Order: sequence, then C-alpha cells, then structure tokens
Amino acid sequence: MLRTHTCGELRAEHVGATVTLAGWVHRRRDHGGLVFVDVRDRNGLTQVVFDPDAAPAAFEAARDVGHEWVVAVDGSVRPRPAGQANPNLPTGAVEVVASALRVLNPARTPPFEINREQAVEDGTRLRYRYLDIRRQRMQRNLVLRHAVTAFIRAHLNARDFLDVETPILMKATPEGARDFLVPSRVHPGRFYALPQSPQQLKQILMVAGIDRYYQIARCFRDEDLRADRELEFTQLDLEMAFAEAGDIMALNEDLFVALVAAVAPQLRIRQVPFPHLTYADAMERYGTDKPDIRFGLEMVDIGPDVAGSAFRVFADTVARGGRVKAIAAPAQFTRREIDAFEAFVKGLGAAGLAWLAFDADGAVRGSVARALAAPEIAAIRDRTGAGDGATVFIVAGDAPVVALALGRLRGELGRHLDLIDPGELAFLWLVDPPLFEWNAGEARWDSVHHPFTSAVPEDVPLLDTDPGRIRAQAYDVVCNGYELGGGSIRIHERDVQARVFALLGLSDAQVQAQFGHLLTAFEFGAPPHGGIAWGIDRTVAILAGEANIREVIAFPKSLSAVDLLTGAPSPVPARDLAVLGISVVASSPPDATDA
Ligand code: AMO
Repeated sequence: MLRTHTCGELRAEHVGATVTLAGWVHRRRDHGGLVFVDVRDRNGLTQVVFDPDAAPAAFEAARDVGHEWVVAVDGSVRPRPAGQANPNLPTGAVEVVASALRVLNPARTPPFEINREQAVEDGTRLRYRYLDIRRQRMQRNLVLRHAVTAFIRAHLNARDFLDVETPILMKATPEGARDFLVPSRVHPGRFYALPQSPQQLKQILMVAGIDRYYQIARCFRDEDLRADRELEFTQLDLEMAFAEAGDIMALNEDLFVALVAAVAPQLRIRQVPFPHLTYADAMERYGTDKPDIRFGLEMVDIGPDVAGSAFRVFADTVARGGRVKAIAAPAQFTRREIDAFEAFVKGLGAAGLAWLAFDADGAVRGSVARALAAPEIAAIRDRTGAGDGATVFIVAGDAPVVALALGRLRGELGRHLDLIDPGELAFLWLVDPPLFEWNAGEARWDSVHHPFTSAVPEDVPLLDTDPGRIRAQAYDVVCNGYELGGGSIRIHERDVQARVFALLGLSDAQVQAQFGHLLTAFEFGAPPHGGIAWGIDRTVAILAGEANIREVIAFPKSLSAVDLLTGAPSPVPARDLAVLGISVVASSPPDATDA
C-alpha cells in the first residue's frame, strides 16, 4: 500500500511512530511560519504540520498544494501542543510532522467546496457526483446504506434464507408501472422487459422448493420521478413457502427492530409490536393508506351532526352520499394562515375549507359560525374533542376528495404546529386492503396490489358477486407517512389465479401469452406461499433523516430522468439500431438530456 495508516486512524498511542498517509488535501492553512494541511480519506482526516526548519523541501511543496489534490505524506506522529487538541476529531489528539510530501495528482478547482456543508444546486451535485460523494453527507449515507444491506443479509442468512439472483432481462411482470424494454438482436422485433420486481420468479422459486428466498434486487419502473421514486431502485425481496401473513409480518418486524437497533440506535421506534391498521380505518381516520401516526389530528366524520342542517352545503353533501369531515387543531390561526390552508385544499380538488375557532371565553368564530345552528356547533365540538382555543377545519365533498384534501391538510397542520418528532419511527402494518378497485375508464377491475395476491378466505365467494368488497391478504409496512414495503399471501391454485385474470379483463389468449408459464408451474405442486418487498432506498432515507431517496443512492437519475454524470439516455448510431431492426420515428431535441 502507498500508506501505512488511514487518515482516520492515528491516536495518542501512535505518538513516536513513523507513518505515511495518503489522501486528499482537505484544507491548508499558513500561519506562524508553519503550513498546516488536513489530509482526508474516507476514514477521516489528520492534521499534518510542515516546518521549514525541520523539512524545507516538504514545506515548500506544501505551500503549493491546492484543495482536493491527492498527496502522500511521510512523517512522525506527535501529540498536539497543549491546548490545541481537537476533541471533536477522532485523530484530534495528535498531528503528523512531515518529513516529505509527494503530489500523487493535482486537481482542478472543484465547482463547489468539499470541506464544508453548503447548499449546492442539484444538477451540479449530480454532474460532479464523484466530488459530491467525497462530502460528509454522502459519505455518511453510503456507509449507512452499506450497513443496512450487510445487516439484512446476515439476519436472513442466519434464518435459513437463500439468496437467489433472478434475471434482469426477462418478461414483463405487471406492478402497475410502464416497462423498460430491451430489444433483442437475435430475435428482431422482440423485446425483453427489465423487471419491475422479481415477483413471478420468486413465486416460481417457491414451486421449485426454495422455501425461503431473498434477494437485494434492482427493480425498474418507467414512471414519473418524485422524492421517493426513482426509475431504478432496490428492494429487499423476500418470499416464504408454508407461511401465513402473520409469520411474514413477524419475521419482517423482527428484522426492522433489529436493524434500527444496529444501524440507527439514535432513532426510537414508537410501538413494538407494530400496530395493525386496516385500510378502511386508515382511510377513515387519516385519509391515506400511508398515514404518519407520529401525531394525532385524526379526521372525524361530522356527517351525522350536519345532515339536517339549514346550511345546505353540508346537508346536501350528506344527502347525496358525500362526506363531511373535520380535524380539530389545538391552536388558533391568523386569517392569512387559514387562507393559505384553504388554497392548499382547493389545489387538491376540495370546493373549500370551512372552519370554526373556539375562543377561551366561549365565543365561536369562523367561516360557518353563523351558518350552523348552535346545537350543531356544540355537536361538532363534542365529536371532534376541540378544546378551548382549538380550531376545527371542515371539508365536505365526495369521499375521495375529502380523504385527499383533509388527509394532506392534516400533514400540513402537523408540520405547522411542530407536532412531529424527527427522532421517532412510527411503523405500522396496513392490512386488509381491497383486492380490486374499479377502473371506470377501462370498465374493468384492477388489482390494488398485484394480480397474484390472494383474497381473505371468507371473501373468496364474492369473486362472483361483489369483487369490490373482497379484502386482500396483503400488508404494507408504513413508517412516518411513507410506504416502506408491501407484500401478500399469494394465490397458489391455478384455477383461482385464472379467475382473477379473467376478472381483470384478460382474455384466455392474453393470459396464456403473459402468464402461461406461471399457471403451468402451478399445475406441478405449488406450495402455499407469500412474501414482501421493501424499498431499500426509502428505508435508508428514513434512517438517514433524508427526505429524498436520491441522497442515499450513489448515482441517481435527475428528476427529469437523466443521468447527468454520463449523459444517459443518449442517441445511438443508426447502424446499431439497424442491427436491432429498429428505426427511430420521434426523437428528443439534441440538448434534451443536458438539463
Ligand atoms: P411494491 O410495488 O409495493 O411491491 O414495491 C415494494 C416497495 O418498493 C419500493 N418502491 C420504490 N422505491 C423507489 N422508487 C420506486 N419507483 C419504487 N417503487 C416501489 C417501495 C415499495 O413499498 N412485488 C411486490 C412485493 C411483493 O408482493 O412481495 C412489489 O414490488 O418502498
């Protein structure tokens, strides 16, 4: 090695040792006739002192080096002078007195500073990702990510799981997104699909007798990017034969609890065992299937209190089957704040935001304080539990709009009132979601999870009569308002699977073409099985306290789906396309991927 120690290694016990360090010039200071250079590698940094009397050539060389140059330094370790030790730095008790400095490679002036945390425009960070990764935040996040995957592997290996790789070039597996297609040269006009997840193959592995499978699997989905979505992302994918939903949830819960204790002990899990919340309850109380339960502010149905009201907006909504729901916030708000909340819910499709403020002196103010009768207001106050000084926000409308608007307002209020503890992890299991939802546009049923999910056994007869009421044997793990993972007990009987495909509007020919392999496999002794997949990126982001998964991915795409470091996607020469039997009929402008 070109070094004897890393830059994070030297301690008081090394005093007197002759060492060679190699790394990047983190910072250089000239003072008191001496030059100080902090040399950095990923393990830390060490202060090196250049003294013109002791080593004149090294001193001269040190005066010329710039930030981020790569250097090697020979020297001896000594204690820092009295009063100059740095207790915040692991190597802060010592310094290296240099005898020689070699420049291994100079560096251009970086487009942003590596040696301090500063806001840098996202595009610049991604274009110079190798510099961004040198910074403390990305170093910390990548180390954490490694700790997470290493922990998961060890935990599952110890429980008899087998890590099996599945192909990247495969046949489309529907997970609700668009596929990335890869043209076949050998079979022009045919395409592989990149896996949206290894779903079908892990089920086929169960048929193959691999009764405990896992994989840290890359998945690809052509969908619009968001803070918690990338085109390619990583799942912990897991499947078990002869297991029931409770077994799979218990195994994953143990894994999460042990993982947090091992890699993020500063975070507190709110409740173990994780609470179970039905989909119906979650929608009713939080307006979402991924509620953040670190704070209250639950939604309350005040329909019964206003059904007979002279205030037509509310009464009519109830009469036509809509919902009138409220949230009581333990605070007073300015008109300006309330106007902003109203604009927010209108942006989500609500017709408006009504409010009532209960002053400590018994007075009631608000947009509907005069329109509602006193007993109605008293009933609302009673039902929402609004105390003195509280404000009740009300949205009336169709159930989905009320859920969305009031559910999101709940989040806004939670942040606004500072009710959210960033040190807490509020895990929950979201259970009993519907198996299907009606797709009015296409006049057919769609799977809510995916088409391989089984029904709660007592709901199976509803397949023929009322598919919309069937509950799925599915479970999502939700944490702090994010869906971290989702899974289900699968259908393992060929005929049930065929009936589900038929309900989804697939013809026999389509089923055969898309899923014939799976149905055939089920004819050869498929064990009952189920599993789950969680998003590694989202998990690491939550453990790192990052709001965007790009902060925990070494080389992510930009929000506009471009790899700014390498410039992908990029045009390819016509002759490469010709070999594939492809011609381009529409293309992006030349600079489309530079943004
Ligand atoms: P699902 O589609 O719910 O289930 O995905 C599981 C988890 O993967 C993460 N995830 C994503 N992360 C980043 N970017 C994306 N575009 C993205 N899409 C999903 C989420 C999500 O909870 N095969 C099933 C699992 C199963 O049934 O076993 C599946 O993929 O954290």
